[in-house]
Amino acid sequence: SDDDWRSQMNREMRTVAAVRPDVELCFRNAADLSSRQVAQIDSFVREGADLIIVAPNEADTVSAAVERAEAAGIPVLVVDRKVHTARFTAYVGGDNLKMGRDAARYFVATHPQGGTVWQVTGLVGSTPAADRDRGFTDEIARFPQFRLLPPADGGWNARGAAQAARRLLAQGEKPDFIFAHNDPMAAAVGEVMQAHGLQPVIVGVDALNVGGLGLDLVEQGRIAATLIYPTAGDRVMDVALSILDGKPYERNQALTTALVTKDNVNIFRQQERQMVEREMRLTR
Ligand code: FRU
Repeated sequence: SDDDWRSQMNREMRTVAAVRPDVELCFRNAADLSSRQVAQIDSFVREGADLIIVAPNEADTVSAAVERAEAAGIPVLVVDRKVHTARFTAYVGGDNLKMGRDAARYFVATHPQGGTVWQVTGLVGSTPAADRDRGFTDEIARFPQFRLLPPADGGWNARGAAQAARRLLAQGEKPDFIFAHNDPMAAAVGEVMQAHGLQPVIVGVDALNVGGLGLDLVEQGRIAATLIYPTAGDRVMDVALSILDGKPYERNQALTTALVTKDNVNIFRQQERQMVEREMRLTR
């Protein structure tokens, strides 16, 4: 995808590569098209890349290309989104099942009386969408005072989410709670709801500290909460370099999450600032 979350991850990766003159980082953007991503992976294999890092747009479609790279002897580091094959070298990504569960628990804890719940999912076919949906649905189903509407596919982007929200309202549904699988979709859905005089409690995902996104949305009260989904470009590069350098690495690295609300948003901002300052010192 081509969005702020990816840009931040790419920036973090470049920062690590900057201190390794023997490493050349080469980016390809599939622009949410699985067929394009497959062609890009195949071309990296033909060009003789030493290692391929991939965030699979859709698990099923991209798996075969990952297997082809592995068969050609090229290590493949899968990040963020998973594949439906065990033939990859390592995986780094967030715990999406837990994030879904945490979103449901937030609604239950803050509004025990319940109400109508709706989900705008990420692209159906990508694993974070499937896992967030499963974690959320399984958890909320334990509380019958929450009525769960069928989820809609927002495709990871604001436009898809806004369209889904308009369709839902046209069906006469008025959700009290919305779990959107990322912050751009959460903001877009919030705008549509507000234009119709509705103010549901919205939880998003990503918590980027970028102008107008995650942390800003929480601070402005446009969404009630967001879950941290670490971009972790530095961790990704650490694993990639360990593989290339023949050093030990963990095959599965699960990144932690945390819920950001108005009450703790400042702590996260401060932490981010410190990390950015450290990064700047490192690259100076
Ligand atoms: C960025 C993104 C994030 C989301 C993640 C899931 O491209 O859509 O917003 O959390 O991908 O894979």
